Amino acid sequence: MQSPAIPPSTERREGVVIETDVNLKPYNTFGLPATARRLVRIREELDVRRVVDHPELGRAPKFVLGGGSNLVLTRDVDAVVLKMEIPGLRVEERDDCWIVEAGAGVAWHEAVAGSLALGVPGLENLALIPGTVGAAPVQNIGAYGVELKDRLENVDVVDLTTGRRVTLPAEVCRFGYRDSVFKQTGYGGLAGKSVITKVRLRCPKPWQPQLGYLDIERKMAETGISAPDAKQVFDWICEIRRAKLPDPARIGNAGSFFKNPVVSAEQCRDIITRDPHIVHYPMPDGSFKLAAGWLIDACGWKGKSVGGAAVYEKQALVLVNRGEARGAEVVTLARAIQESVYGRFGIRLEPEPVVV
Ligand code: EPU
Repeated sequence: MQSPAIPPSTERREGVVIETDVNLKPYNTFGLPATARRLVRIREELDVRRVVDHPELGRAPKFVLGGGSNLVLTRDVDAVVLKMEIPGLRVEERDDCWIVEAGAGVAWHEAVAGSLALGVPGLENLALIPGTVGAAPVQNIGAYGVELKDRLENVDVVDLTTGRRVTLPAEVCRFGYRDSVFKQTGYGGLAGKSVITKVRLRCPKPWQPQLGYLDIERKMAETGISAPDAKQVFDWICEIRRAKLPDPARIGNAGSFFKNPVVSAEQCRDIITRDPHIVHYPMPDGSFKLAAGWLIDACGWKGKSVGGAAVYEKQALVLVNRGEARGAEVVTLARAIQESVYGRFGIRLEPEPVVV
């Protein structure tokens, strides 16, 4: 007999429950309309193996869906959607660190808040980043001076062809700015080839706060607290983010829509001559990172819209869904922004989210 928890448009075969014609609107933080022809919920590592061994699904293209927070859906998804829902959060204490182990389906913020509640500091600068734990290494999430790569110990991944699991140490993940081997399609890239099922994070002892970021320095000056504990930093980061970034539960969005572009020292000097106020940060290799939000803002985009897609009023780097936006409208708006920034500054902005 079928379990009553399974909705009617499902099929159970070879231990795999396949849901058909699934509405993806609730599963992407932009709230864009699209349908998955077939969707399988991955609740344990073995579920991936079951999909790989499945007579029909095994060879079909797969699309891995985490929290859908870095995704622009412009059409229905034909590939088999693997919706990552592997739970679990545990902490192991070692002499020199704590290891936080989390299932790929855990909400990233729950992992940050949960580890802090278990007495482990070290992830607080990454509070309130939307998405799941399994998606965090894919684009090497980062905020307020800390990136995922600074905390990653290793990840468990399952090969989507063989169903075999391997544990990859951080060193082989080819992390870059919002980039990793899991996003790369070229030589050795793992995009579309494997799925992350578990992530282990290393929080070093003794804990050292990361406070070298303008927004945090402002909080320290305002409150007079010069030696905050991890919970204090966590609370500050939550306040800072809530003040300038829209809550995806209320206003659909995918975080920063473009990466901050990196230019040569010469290019940077040239732009400063024309726009002395441009926000720029020196990089260790002599290049400069420019604030994409500033560039878009300078072109007058705040509050502008295409259909239901708009540029957020408080942060020009974030595109939002004002209501019934469609993926195509988001893409049209993004292209118009790219053209205008290129026209004025000669800089090509690269989108951060995956466009499907
Ligand atoms: N700015 C403007 N106008 C705007 C937006 C920004 O002038 O409309 C200026 C700000 O005043 C500031 C500078 O641009 O001087 C940078 O802005 P902010 O500090 O808000 O950071 P960001 O560069 O826009 C990056 C990450 C965020 C991360 C923050 C904090 C990228 C693409 N974005 O944003 O990450 O939270 O720094 O570390 O690297 C994300 O990737 O989705 C994300 C939200």
